[in-house]
Amino acid sequence: MNTCVVYFSRTGNTKRLAQAIADTAKAPIHDITSTQPSKTYLLILGTPVEGFRPAKETLAFVGAMPKVESKKAILFCTHRLWKGSTFKILEKELAAKGYETVLSVSKKGMKPDKEADFSDVLGEVKKALEKQ
Ligand SMILES: Cc1cc2nc3c(=O)[nH]c(=O)nc-3n(C[C@H](O)[C@H](O)[C@H](O)COP(=O)(O)O)c2cc1C
Repeated sequence: MNTCVVYFSRTGNTKRLAQAIADTAKAPIHDITSTQPSKTYLLILGTPVEGFRPAKETLAFVGAMPKVESKKAILFCTHRLWKGSTFKILEKELAAKGYETVLSVSKKGMKPDKEADFSDVLGEVKKALEKQ
């Protein structure tokens, strides 16, 4: 399956989670600031929450994505306390591009200098991948 992890990270939290997800999915990983949007069958997209929304860099990347037919997406975010409309906004933007979101999963309260337990998120991602 053509799967790819793409993320934006301002202070490193989302990057660490993205790397763990890419290891689990055995998928290539790209920082959105240094990659071009492409037509991936299963897109795993990660963003930090900023102002109860996805980071503007993530939204700009999705806005530049080509339209596809019947592809899937897994969304993940990291945030401090409240993720607000982050997933709702991304799911809508991705649907307009032809992606059905099969899982949206978040990790709360990461700190850049502290180890984090990703087992809950990785378990959910693994289950979703097995169903595709
Ligand atoms: C400008 C800015 C706005 C933020 N807004 C929110 C927010 O609305 N809700 C929340 O829970 N965390 C918020 N945070 C915290 C980040 O979502 C959180 O630290 C995240 O893990 C950062 O990911 P990153 O290290 O990949 O950039 C904000 C952080 C920044 C810098």
